[in-house]
Order: sequence, then structure tokens, then C-alpha cells
Amino acid sequence: MSVHQQYAQVTRLLHWIVALMVLTTMPIGVAMLQEGIQRSTQDLLFILHKNGGVIILLLVLLRIIWRVVTPKPALPTTVPQWQKRAAAGVQTALYLLLLVMAVSGYVRVRAGGFPIEMLDAVGMPTFVPRSEALADRAQAIHATARFPLAALILLHIAAGVKHAIARDGVFSRIWPPLGR
Ligand code: HEM
Repeated sequence: MSVHQQYAQVTRLLHWIVALMVLTTMPIGVAMLQEGIQRSTQDLLFILHKNGGVIILLLVLLRIIWRVVTPKPALPTTVPQWQKRAAAGVQTALYLLLLVMAVSGYVRVRAGGFPIEMLDAVGMPTFVPRSEALADRAQAIHATARFPLAALILLHIAAGVKHAIARDGVFSRIWPPLGR
């Protein structure tokens, strides 16, 4: 396939960094809430989850800006129209759900009056008022949005694996993360 049909280097790298971070942040989020977990382990998981989540938020915002200014390479003509539309829909929903997860997590923590170590270290203002009602609402959104997010991630991975096996030139648009 021609080089023009591949995503730009920056796009590929951002995609795989965000993918790796989301796929670790979600199980960490579930693990840190388990009963009977050691306090020191729980504290470490919370620190990783909150700060990792903030980095995901920043990277997703960067990806959206980058996506707007960088033209998307055309899909191979062998991909049916309905699949192109489905892929675009799933990708948009993934961006939205990642934003919902990251922002609700942020609001839940800040409205609850808890630290986000990385941001506190650089003196970043909290932007969110202290409010238990707001924290509870954000927590409910955070706990609910993970289900559609997990479902869409599975769908997205299944489609990627299908294209990688078929070697139809779709997976190699986003792979490898570096080089070529
Ligand atoms: C895209 C990014 C994120 C993903 C995919 C994610 C995912 C998750 C998941 C799956 C859980 C477990 C929910 C449950 O079992 O009820 C969770 C819990 C939690 N997350 Fe996140 N999260 C993200 C970003 C953040 C951010 C940015 C923060 C805060 C800065 C945060 C703070 C929390 C907290 C405090 C909990 C525990 C909620 C509770 O009090 O029950 N998350 N997250």
C-alpha cells in the first residue's frame, strides 16, 4: 500500500499510547475499589489511576486537535460503505466516552476535595467547587459510562483484529506506532 494511505506518525503514536493507557487505567480503576485490598496498594492504584486519567484527558484533547488539522487518509475501496460509517461512528463515540470518563473522574475527585498529585505539584487550580452532591453525580456518571466504553473498545479491537488477519490494508494504516 502507498505511504499516503497510512496515518501520520504522530497520529499512530498517539493512538497506541492512548490505547495502552486506557487498557491499563480501566482495570486499575476496578481493582482499586475491591474490598480487602491492602491500603498502601490501594493508595498507589488511586495515584496511578487519577494521574493516568488526567494524562489520557490531555492526550485525547491533543488527538482531537491533531485530527482536525490533519486530513484522514482514505480507506481502501474494498471496505463497504456501511463499514466505513460504522467505523466512523464507533471512533467518534470512543472519543466522546473517553472525554466523559476523564472529565467525570476529574470532577468526582476535585468536588470531593481529593488531591491529583501531578496537578497539585505544579500548582494547578482545581476549577471545580467543593460539593458532595456534584461529586456523587460525577461518580455515578464515571461508574456508568465505563460499560458503553468497554463495549465499544471490544468492538473496535475486534474490527482491528479482523482487518489485521484479512491483511486488507486497513490495520497497516495505524500500525506500527513508530517508523515506516
Ligand atoms: C479515560 C479515562 C478514565 C477511565 C477509562 C477510567 C475508568 C475507571 C473505571 C473503570 C473505574 C471503576 C468504576 C467502578 O468500578 O465503579 C474508575 C473509578 C474511579 N476513577 Fe476513573 N477513569 C478515567 C479517568 C479518571 C480520572 C481523570 C480521574 C480523576 C482524576 C478518575 C478517578 C476515579 C475515581 C476516584 C474512581 C473511584 C470512583 C468511586 O469513588 O467509586 N478516573 N475509573
